[in-house]
Amino acid sequence: MVSVKITENIYWTGVNDRTTDLFEGLWPISEEGVSYNSYVILDEKVALIDLVKSFKTDDYLSQIEEIIDPTKIDYVIVNHVEPDHTGMIKVMSRLAPNIIFVGTEKTKKMLEDYYQLEFGDKFLVVKTGARLNLGTHELEFYEVPFVHWPETMVTYERKNEILFSCDAFGSYGALRGAIFDDEYDDLEFYKEEALRYYVNIVAKFSRFVLKAIDALKTLQIRIIAPSHGLIWRKHPEKIIKLYSKWATYASEPSEKGITLIYASMYGNTEKVMNAVAQGASKEGIPIQIFDVARTHVSYILPSLWKYQGILIGTPTYETKLFPPMAYVLQMADYKRITNKKVARFGSYGWSGGAQRDLESYIEKLKWDLVDIFEFQGGPSEEDLKYGKKFGENFAKIIRSS
Ligand code: FEO
Repeated sequence: MVSVKITENIYWTGVNDRTTDLFEGLWPISEEGVSYNSYVILDEKVALIDLVKSFKTDDYLSQIEEIIDPTKIDYVIVNHVEPDHTGMIKVMSRLAPNIIFVGTEKTKKMLEDYYQLEFGDKFLVVKTGARLNLGTHELEFYEVPFVHWPETMVTYERKNEILFSCDAFGSYGALRGAIFDDEYDDLEFYKEEALRYYVNIVAKFSRFVLKAIDALKTLQIRIIAPSHGLIWRKHPEKIIKLYSKWATYASEPSEKGITLIYASMYGNTEKVMNAVAQGASKEGIPIQIFDVARTHVSYILPSLWKYQGILIGTPTYETKLFPPMAYVLQMADYKRITNKKVARFGSYGWSGGAQRDLESYIEKLKWDLVDIFEFQGGPSEEDLKYGKKFGENFAKIIRSS
């Protein structure tokens, strides 16, 4: 893509990534892609806000060259050290050795550690409230620790009321040509990918997200320009509201709905899963169903985060939980998914053990286990009938909770 003007003298210069399979080496994006957004401000002093991953270097530099000779850049604002934002730092330092990098004290140390750089007098340390005058534009910096890493900050440009929010308010999903929210009729894809991104990347730090949103609430924000995904210029409040809502799910009950996660070795637990789903669906609340052996956990976590109820269908496997189910629960613990009501069903061949194993996870997760239904071998007609009732009862609990 070529660079895009956002306002007079402020430009988007991002890179669309449609070839990386796994974001952070963990989260699948091969179908959705991701964008690394970077911004140029032209003024008496020229600033580049955030860099991009070390990727498509020529394309990135060509975009900047459409706007300005990169050797004329005075400042690079480093809102966040994670290499999807700073991978290009060595290239930029070599290209323009007089650039001053701007970031928090921790940013300086972390950049030195990640890239073995020695900044000398080429680093300007800033704290919350610090300002940098570029001429007609002034940048203000706000530390937002743990949104996403401890060093992270955001940058506010007061003249145009733009918040360069870094990871905050970002999403997976490569840009489909257009870069602004008002250029898309349907934002569902980006909203869904914003939730998946939020839960995969930021959710663990939800307390800090709420703190940051509170700290920034006095700013007039006309445009949210994050490091990933769309620039929100028509309705910046929409993405702020979504992030605020999702962040509260870390400490308060989430939406009335059920995530049904299951695994089945020979189809016995799956038969009961279908009966349970039929029963649960009678209550008219949303249900999302995932086969944990065939769905990457990246796509399961958003549903676990969003809905209050979790139905777990898993057989016993060598006296423990079926391993892909154990992995999903382990990741739920990593992401601190809490305040959930849970019921479990599943088959066992002889001695069982999955239930005991599950309870050790649930204790750690502090989930509320409200019902259990185990059956031996394949389900009988009675088991299938009971499974239906079991699902219905659980959905009633969720609906009325
Ligand atoms: Fe977009 Fe925390 O990196």
